[in-house]
Amino acid sequence: MERIVVQGGRRLTGSVRVSGSKNATLALMAGALLADGESRLRNVPRLRDVDAMAQILDALGARVAWAPDDPHTLSIDPRGVHNPEAPYDLVRKMRASFMVLGPLAARFGVARVSEPGGCAIGVRPVDQHVKGLAALGAKVRLEHGIVEASAARLRGGRFSFDLVTVNGTQNVMMAACLAAGETVLENCAREPEVVELAQFLARMGAEISGAGTDRIVVRGVERLRPVALDVCGDRIEAGTLLAAGAITGGQLELTGVDPGHLEATVEKLRAAGCDIDLAHDRLRLRGAELRGVDAVTAPFPGFPTDMQAQLMAVVTKAAGSSVITETVFENRFMHVPELIRLGADIRLSGRAAHVRGVRRLSGAPVMATDLRASASLLIAALAAEGETVVNRVYHIDRGYERIEAKLASLGAAIRREV
Ligand code: EPZ
Repeated sequence: MERIVVQGGRRLTGSVRVSGSKNATLALMAGALLADGESRLRNVPRLRDVDAMAQILDALGARVAWAPDDPHTLSIDPRGVHNPEAPYDLVRKMRASFMVLGPLAARFGVARVSEPGGCAIGVRPVDQHVKGLAALGAKVRLEHGIVEASAARLRGGRFSFDLVTVNGTQNVMMAACLAAGETVLENCAREPEVVELAQFLARMGAEISGAGTDRIVVRGVERLRPVALDVCGDRIEAGTLLAAGAITGGQLELTGVDPGHLEATVEKLRAAGCDIDLAHDRLRLRGAELRGVDAVTAPFPGFPTDMQAQLMAVVTKAAGSSVITETVFENRFMHVPELIRLGADIRLSGRAAHVRGVRRLSGAPVMATDLRASASLLIAALAAEGETVVNRVYHIDRGYERIEAKLASLGAAIRREV
């Protein structure tokens, strides 16, 4: 079982390029199913989750291939799709694969995708995806754990999400692109990954307006043509690296990401005492004496739930106390017991974590439990005295490409052990 070993105490300094966005990539890969030819995605991160989505598309019959001359370019040709069924053993590994349901139903008239089931951070139902597709005229059945959506042709409709859901917004928006007529979606997610997908679809010939706001209007078209797209930088990886710079009192520059995608994260780290300068595709952070900050996670443009664990790691060593409240998922504090093993002073009370800053953290063996919790442990380990061993690093590899190489390039004493 692979693990990552960190000797804490080094200040991070230097410049690193952020990889392409995992969550944008997963949606774009599903969106490529809508085109009647081969699309190409560039700046794709090499991650376990991307491999899992590629396996799903392959199982459907699409041709998915990495470019021979560029390890970050992926081509997807859905013309071979003959079997619109995404099986449980693949979907359960990566729940974002549920996003193939909308494109398959829209393109091929029928789709069967295993109900993804919950995961470590919560139940994560897909009722909004299903209700949204039904609003477009799909006949949706759930039997034996399989969600089947079928329609001779989807038709435009009006649908208001009961709650803000990123992949739900993306799934229904994709389906609406090939529906007959106009679709109006309300209470949509506003995340940059929704905007990125809408830009990709518009390049294919889709007629979408309002992406990035809570109201999206789609005028259905007959067909969509394949295109190429450079995937935007990963705003959560960027935030994670900034957090690593902050806790080590370092000085680092990040390139390859749009600072406008992580304003709430930047604002929180500034409130914690960091100096952060922004340019159009880079950020510069100078760490300083940290002070406690409060944060409440919320849909974009609020403070992202995907940065909650990482910010908590930063404030474990800040002067004063912090209250970190998780409002999006019901079980996203699994990093807390592990941070306490490193000497953090955290008390949970319902959806809030009360953190009192300590002067020192001390290294210890810890267990990764989910993707962002793992990142939080790495961040704390960088500032802990002595050695920390983070076990079960496959969680980290789901969402961070060669994270130890990036941190080592900034001066961290970090290595992967098989
Ligand atoms: C996306 O998941 C991201 N994943 C998550 O990132 C991120 O944490 C989440 O959005 C919130 O920002 C990808 O884009 C692949 P939601 P998604 O639907 O779309 C409830 C990471 O670490 N809900 O916005 O699945 C749900 O239970 C991952 O990179 C319903 O009740 O999240 C949750 O409480 C983790 N019914 C809330 O909505 C539904 O039909 C928000 O979830 C759908 C969602």
